[in-house]
Formats: sequence, structure tokens, C-alpha cells
Amino acid sequence: MISSRSVIIAGNWKMNYGPKAASHFAMEIVPKLGQLTRQNPGLLCILCPPAISLSPVREVMDTMPSPRLELGAQNMYFEEKGAFTGEISPIMVRELCTTVILGHSERRMYFGESNELVHKKTLAALTYGLRPIVCIGENEAQHQAGQTEQVIHTQVQGSLAHLPTELAKDVVIAYEPIWAIGTGKAATGKDAGKVASLIRQLYGTMYGDESAVALHILYGGSTTSENCHHFFSHPDIDGALIGGASIKHDFVEIARKANTMV
Ligand code: 13P
Repeated sequence: MISSRSVIIAGNWKMNYGPKAASHFAMEIVPKLGQLTRQNPGLLCILCPPAISLSPVREVMDTMPSPRLELGAQNMYFEEKGAFTGEISPIMVRELCTTVILGHSERRMYFGESNELVHKKTLAALTYGLRPIVCIGENEAQHQAGQTEQVIHTQVQGSLAHLPTELAKDVVIAYEPIWAIGTGKAATGKDAGKVASLIRQLYGTMYGDESAVALHILYGGSTTSENCHHFFSHPDIDGALIGGASIKHDFVEIARKANTMV
């Protein structure tokens, strides 16, 4: 972490907590996260519940507003409106959220999302003033075969090339090695840091040093309050995108640890 970039602790609730449960859980954690983020302006926490639960979580957040506690969607389509059954648009997301997760490996894997589609969505998010958290990462076989660098290169180029340069600095990239997601087998801080440095370097060749320095890079994959400091201590890692631990109170613990390291 370096001081000029904020530390972002984002919780991807995935397909957990419908409207009632989400509201209940938000009532428990929002006051604590609000207090942490108010204490430390360098810390930004983002909750990303399922689309159907965005509104109730927003309502809870609005009862105790904190400027550095934000709401994010887990996905969206790139069109503004129209006949796209089941999708939500950037304009709709923008009504409630500041952020949207895009190209998560589960969307790439189960819903066939390509780099090309993720690119369109990223451009749409930036155009409509949303902060995209774009996920990339190699799978187990690629990891074993030593292809991580190549995969990262292809995904960064494919998902993030040709964005307007003035908007490129607003992107957040989450490095989430697929073999580490939900397995309890997190990457080491050193390995994750190495990939984060590679991403920043690559971004610099695409958009220049200023954008590369401004770019936020998060680590994701079996992050807990026990292991998070390994990631947060690396200068190229600016926080975490958290799955399993984000639907528990451990999320507050992780934010608390991040808070002490900003
Ligand atoms: P886990 O923290 O459950 O491994 O999930 C990471 C993730 O996929 C966040 O987007």
C-alpha cells in the first residue's frame, strides 16, 4: 500500500443474502464500517450484495451515512436500457451505487463472459461515472504450467485496452487467482505482490505512469483477517476483494486491519 492511493476493502457477497437477510446483516456491520471509514479518510469500504438486495442495503446505509462506505453491484450490462431480459444497466446501478464488479471469474466461467464483453462493460461503467472493479486471474492449470504472466497480460490487454486515457486511472483491478477463490488456499503476499507489480507495469505501458500510479490493485482469493496483512504490506496491493469473509463479521476485522496499515 502507498499513501497516495486509498485502501479499498470490497465485499463481494456473491449469491448470498436476499433482501431481508442483507438488510439485517447491513444493520450489523454498517455502523462499525461507518465508524472505521470516518476515522480514516484513506480507507474506502464497499459492500456488493446481490442486485435484488442493493436497495435494502442502500436504505440501511442512508440511515447512517459515511462518505467512505459505498455500495457496489456485482455485474451489469453495458447498454443503457432496452430489451435485455434479466440485466441491469449502468444508469440503474448508478442510482444506488458508486461501483460495479466486472468480469469476475465466476461470470467468465459460468456465464461465458469474454474479455471483449468485459471491455464493453468497463467502458460503460466509466462513461456513466461508476468505478469498475475488473477481475482477472489465472486458473489452477495455468498456475501450475507457469502461465500466470501470459494470462494476466491477455486479460489486461483484452479487458482494459483502448479506454479513454483520462478515465483509465479510475479503474480498479482485482487480481483473483481462480485456484485461490473459495478454497482456503490464498496466494502468498509475495506472489500476489509480484503479479500486482506486473499489472501496474503493464498498465503503465498502456496508459502512462500517471495512470499506473493512480491505479488501485486489489487481491482476492481466500482473504481473511488472519492472512490479509500479507497482502496489505505489499506496495503494489491497495486492498482486497473479499468473498466468503465478506458475509461474516470477519469483514469488519479485515477493514480494521487495513485501517491500521493505511
Ligand atoms: P473468497 O474470498 O471466498 O475466496 O472469494 C474471493 C472472490 O471471488 C471475491 O470476488
